Amino acid sequence: METVVSGIRPTGNLHLGNYFGAVKNFIKMQQEHNCYFFIADYHSLTTHPTPADLHGSVKQVLAEYLAAGLDPEKSTLFIQSDLPEVSELYLLLNMNAYVGELERTTSFKDKVRAQPDNVNAGLLTYPVLMAADIILHKASKVPVGKDQEQNLEMARKFARRFNHMYNQEYFPEPVPFNFGEQLIKIPGLDGSGKMGKSEGNGIFLYEEADSIRKKVMRAVTDSGPTAMNQEVSEPIQNLFAIMKQVSTPDTLLYFTEKYASCEIRYGDLKKQLAEDIVNFTAPIREKIIAIKSDEAYLSKVARMGAIKARESAQKTIKDVREIIGFKAF
Ligand code: TRP
Repeated sequence: METVVSGIRPTGNLHLGNYFGAVKNFIKMQQEHNCYFFIADYHSLTTHPTPADLHGSVKQVLAEYLAAGLDPEKSTLFIQSDLPEVSELYLLLNMNAYVGELERTTSFKDKVRAQPDNVNAGLLTYPVLMAADIILHKASKVPVGKDQEQNLEMARKFARRFNHMYNQEYFPEPVPFNFGEQLIKIPGLDGSGKMGKSEGNGIFLYEEADSIRKKVMRAVTDSGPTAMNQEVSEPIQNLFAIMKQVSTPDTLLYFTEKYASCEIRYGDLKKQLAEDIVNFTAPIREKIIAIKSDEAYLSKVARMGAIKARESAQKTIKDVREIIGFKAF
């Protein structure tokens, strides 16, 4: 059994791409491993949210992940800011994180370009906080997408540096969780690319039926097949890929055959797809709403997660303080 840690950004609602990708993998991992999943609300302060926005988005994301199937009994599900230990480890790791290497990370350079008026130190040390999140629980595996690989590389570097400095094999070096072939990629509705990559190509679990219908009806298509069994263009492949996940095998077969015989009407395909997506997401949306209104449940989940997470966090901090040489008088 591996110890797995993953942070969830509190901004951005879950879309179908996340659902069939990251969330499905979280659900699988929680059966097999010792998982720590947390909402990275400290990290989100780099963009200066208002107190109301901060709380609202943490609550929304927590409710969405619970509704999507994260089980607080199976994994340790917590809010980052409920662990003061993470800020202590962050402080300690900062002493051995060099400004030069932090300035060279791609995500920092991207942020500097995107928000030149808010280049704060939290942004610079973002990878240090992320490393603290991970090694605080001595995680060996971290499920990360391509965009987070460099941050994970930094976490390995900081863990290694600590071990080396104190001449101990204390922290394991966390490696990416490899899903191999199991990764399902949900495309967007704009013809090419993954869902969620660009604005407006996503369908959200929390989205209302009419809004979903509108988006699907507006999805990019092509001018239609003209020859029997001709190769399917990317926008149409994408619609079929989503259909494969949300529709019945019969529906998928029906439209596949209509396509092959050049009788397909994209309007019909989209209407069916829209209804199947709505039927798929509606129960999850209702669950999200129910969970959000159940303050007692949310508070129980957060409290339980904090207690479990702090157990391992406190043990690490105690060891680390000893290793560094802090001694009580
Ligand atoms: N940086 C991650 C993201 O943007 C979120 C995150 C914070 C994280 N701490 C983490 C992910 C620790 C994995 C492990 O998605």
